[in-house]
Amino acid sequence: MELCIGGELLDRILARGGKYPEDDAKAVMVQILNVVSFCHLQGVVHRDLKPGCNNFLYTSKDETSELKVIDFGLSDYVRPDERLNDIVGSAYYVAPEVLHRSYSTEADVWSIGVIAYILLCGSRPFWARTESGIFRSVLKAEPKNFDEASWATISPEAKDFVKRLLNKDPRRRMTAAQALSHPWLRNYNDVKLLLDIPVLKLMRAYVRSSSLRKAALRALAKTLTADEVFYLKEQFTILQPNKNGSITLEHIRMALMKNATDAMRDSRVPDILASLNTLQHRKMEFEEFCAAALSVHQLEALDRWEQHARSAYEIFDQDGNRAIVIQELASELALGPSIPVHAVLNDWIRHGDGKLSFRGFIKLLHGMSSRGMTKAP
Ligand SMILES: *[C@@H]1O[C@H](CO)[C@@H](O)[C@H](O)[C@H]1NC(C)=O
Ligand SMILES: *[C@@H]1O[C@H](CO)[C@@H](O)[C@H](O)[C@H]1NC(C)=O
Repeated sequence: MELCIGGELLDRILARGGKYPEDDAKAVMVQILNVVSFCHLQGVVHRDLKPGCNNFLYTSKDETSELKVIDFGLSDYVRPDERLNDIVGSAYYVAPEVLHRSYSTEADVWSIGVIAYILLCGSRPFWARTESGIFRSVLKAEPKNFDEASWATISPEAKDFVKRLLNKDPRRRMTAAQALSHPWLRNYNDVKLLLDIPVLKLMRAYVRSSSLRKAALRALAKTLTADEVFYLKEQFTILQPNKNGSITLEHIRMALMKNATDAMRDSRVPDILASLNTLQHRKMEFEEFCAAALSVHQLEALDRWEQHARSAYEIFDQDGNRAIVIQELASELALGPSIPVHAVLNDWIRHGDGKLSFRGFIKLLHGMSSRGMTKAP
């Protein structure tokens, strides 16, 4: 092991009056996110990311010294479709879904959001005198003081960055790899780009979807802004498409192997590839990749979601919408026999022509994502 004699992150924060200028906060964030996105690729959740307790150490006393993430004592492996349920971590940094006992790598990203909040404004986003009070605040309250003076001088990009890390819904939260391609950090020198496993899970769900849902997602992909496409483009590049601009399962295998540790190479990569077997004999170009890899949940968290959805519905209506039978929609959404489909689905179908309504379109975009994604194939 390497000897780290530079002291811990918390001491440096305190020595500097409790907070950092934005550029210095960026340097810290990039170092943490580089490590954590690498861990998440290997299927390792740290579960105890916090500035104190010697969890982040500097290698030397130097101002420019490297920051190391250590103390993996509470970390665990998690498979792409698995959820962990034991409550571990530290009160101020614990993610809401950990308290709900169903979580995965996103929980680390929440903790990084808390650290980012502290670095930028010098106070904690969730605070109470007792542990149960903190938990209540983490579960229910919005980060405190976000609109107050302490945030007034901070750039909108930095604020947006923190908000998207501190989303209480883990499906809507950015991933570590995504955080590195957020406008606040994306031009920073030391950003290390890695494959993001959630992209593969979304692709898998896409390939298994009906042609109607694929058309809906393609329409939505056409409404993405350049800023939103940025991360997808990075991920597509990591998959190293062939000269014709398309990717196959083999590209995914190579991208997974490239930054895999031995443990990952032996078991995780074969597992992930087996779960993606529907991608065999299939090619995907960038346009379709966008439809496949976009996260509807994350887009829903944006202020401009309504606008996105409306324009996507218009595109879909011209090119993809068709008359649909209620049973077909029920099976697409995996509604069980106990659900009164006619009552439920009535306003998902347009009365005039039997085609999908706007509400039906939104449901279809989600497909079975909230049920199917957490189950093994
Ligand atoms: C690229 O496209 C050409 C023409 O459609 C085809 O002949 C060739 O096999 C493709 N190459 C790859 C690597 O897919
Ligand atoms: C990922 O692999 C590439 C190619 O081997 C290497 O250059 C890069 O440093 C690796 N990234 C990380 C974070 O290990």
